[in-house]
Amino acid sequence: MILLDGKKTAADIKEEISLEVRDLKNNGKKTPHLAAVIVGNDGASITYVNAKVKACERVGFESSLIRLPEETTEEELLNEIAVLNVDNNIDGFIVQLPLPKHINEQKILMAVDPDKDVDGFHPTNVGKMALNLPTFISATPFGILELLDRYNVETSGKHVVVLGRSHIVGSPMSILLSQKRKIGNATVTMCHSRTQNLKDITLQADIIVAAIGIPEFVKADMVKDNVTIIDVGITRVGDTSKKNGYRLIGDVDFNEVSKKAAYITPVPGGVGPMTIAMLLKNTLLACERKS
Ligand code: GUN
Repeated sequence: MILLDGKKTAADIKEEISLEVRDLKNNGKKTPHLAAVIVGNDGASITYVNAKVKACERVGFESSLIRLPEETTEEELLNEIAVLNVDNNIDGFIVQLPLPKHINEQKILMAVDPDKDVDGFHPTNVGKMALNLPTFISATPFGILELLDRYNVETSGKHVVVLGRSHIVGSPMSILLSQKRKIGNATVTMCHSRTQNLKDITLQADIIVAAIGIPEFVKADMVKDNVTIIDVGITRVGDTSKKNGYRLIGDVDFNEVSKKAAYITPVPGGVGPMTIAMLLKNTLLACERKS
């Protein structure tokens, strides 16, 4: 079994980005600048956004964190986005999801300038991704493609089973892996909560991408020998032995499934760190596109 080490791979990517930023600065070019907007006090979201901002600092980017209160209205958030859209100093920005219930998420995502949409969530960018045109690929699917690429995991002609149809992971992952691209050309089956005979399907998978948010859902009897496992799950469960009071559990029962797998991502330290690295990569791209 080979561990797909997202932590190490993300560190390598961030090092590569740092060198590019150093070159940009040495050549008198603009320093990439990412802004992140967060509304409300969701603990997990605050942790993720802080990690994104910290990662910017590490690679030499500029960053802005815009924290808005839970009561922020949709109109106020739209105004904030309008300001970021026209701020020439900001190359890309993200609005951390989920948003409070009184705000229409789709309306917010559609207000972001597609050229600054480094999350790749705007319908224009989702459309370009679906057509295999150059665009910002969302950080999590982009990170998974990069991880498979750097570990030389063959996808061409393989049967990939994607568990989950979310807009952020499952849906783009199934589209990307079926496309004619370096990490692609797979036969993809997309499974979701209404799928019948799920085990019959997962047993046929060469690669499983698990993105359903149910801790340890994928068990050893659901996979064949030498399967490749990409575990996108990051459910927090209480753990008093940890300093922060919780630990992260993936969608895959790592202990038993890793015994049958050829490649597997750990949780934490697999897909999560890659997501942040690819957000930085998209921001660098946004900055370079402008100049
Ligand atoms: N919430 C969970 N994942 C993401 C992400 O990749 N981007 C944003 N903006 N919010 C998220």
